[in-house]
Amino acid sequence: MPKILLCVTGGVAAYKAIDLVSSMRKRGDEVRILMTESATRFVSPVSFSSVGNFPVYTDAFEVSDGRILHTTLSLWGDILVVAPMTANTAAKIANGIADNIVAMTVLAFNGPKIGVPSMNVRMYENPITTQNLSKLSKIGWHILEPATGHLADGEYGKGRYPDNSQILFEIEKALGPADYKDINVLVTAGPTREPIDPVRYITNRSSGKMGYEIAKAAKIRGANVFLVSGPVALPAPYGIERKSVQTANEMKNAILDRMEWADIIVMAAAVADYKPSVFSNQKIKKRADEMNLHLVKTGDILEEVSKMRKPNQFVVGFAAETENLLENARYKLESKKLDMIVANDISHSNIGFDSDYNEVTIICGNNNVIHIGRNKKSSIAQNILDIIRSHRVKLA
Ligand code: CTP
Repeated sequence: MPKILLCVTGGVAAYKAIDLVSSMRKRGDEVRILMTESATRFVSPVSFSSVGNFPVYTDAFEVSDGRILHTTLSLWGDILVVAPMTANTAAKIANGIADNIVAMTVLAFNGPKIGVPSMNVRMYENPITTQNLSKLSKIGWHILEPATGHLADGEYGKGRYPDNSQILFEIEKALGPADYKDINVLVTAGPTREPIDPVRYITNRSSGKMGYEIAKAAKIRGANVFLVSGPVALPAPYGIERKSVQTANEMKNAILDRMEWADIIVMAAAVADYKPSVFSNQKIKKRADEMNLHLVKTGDILEEVSKMRKPNQFVVGFAAETENLLENARYKLESKKLDMIVANDISHSNIGFDSDYNEVTIICGNNNVIHIGRNKKSSIAQNILDIIRSHRVKLA
């Protein structure tokens, strides 16, 4: 897990960095928080230490292990993030001034650096600030563009602290490989819903988490990602174009619309295999003691996609099984003519459905079987992308 130096400087948005630390803790990141004196005027260091249980440093002259703090910290971190970054701190860094714990550590740090400018619109648009920020970009900083909207002082304009999901995305991107750059990846996720009447439907169990993690991981590794999602409770991942659908038919149409564009298609969705043969426009009343529902097949999207794909398109399917995992997965791989299948045993309650964890077995076209033990879905998503990459020669 990455070791992050999070530098908080004195802007109104400093309180938003508390939530950033909380998300970092949930991801399992290791964090050291550095605050300027003015940041501590906005938010207490105690708020930061209690939310993440990470050390918080405010004193530039503190000595740790016989070394002055900023040199120890600058050697410890894999990445340094200044969030929020005030105009004052940007100016100091751009000019090599090192008069507080943040500015000193920044000057001594050699790894990737992300700046999150957040300030009043007139301060942001002042040519001095613009020049300082572009100087930082030129020397390798990744400077995020502030959002536009209502600012703390009642004004409107550019200067807002962005969504923390964007900052987390940029951190992962800065630390990971860019081996999917310019590759177009189409991912499906979540269940489909086949309506019976205006209030009822049949569906499959699926939280969509595995597909969403694959979409996120591909984006972080540089891909252009199009996510076709059935109804799930997950927010659209940062930077990803998401098309929300309900039925298998809508999912099929959304995929076919983008089929031409895609280099890789990953079908993680749990598509309903059957739908009611008729949809009742009116709510069906419960007058009878019994009711028969006549179902018809929805049609296998993956099979259709696989039949019509071009030779250079790589198609990955999923297989959710309760028994004979390998045998059933192999059958799906061959009958649907896939390049790869990711099989998971859904009979275990501590993995799979709704869980953040999974355990999968991957079979590739040449009957290469790879087992990935129980791990976070975010980590399994990275493994799946590694394997796709090594089997899709054109990605090299
Ligand atoms: N799939 C699909 N269209 C369907 C059903 C499934 O595209 N109508 C895709 C899923 O997205 C998944 C793969 O086919 O990638 C396997 O889905 P799964 O539900 O495990 O198996 P099925 O093919 O539906 O077969 P069965 O229900 O008999 O296990």
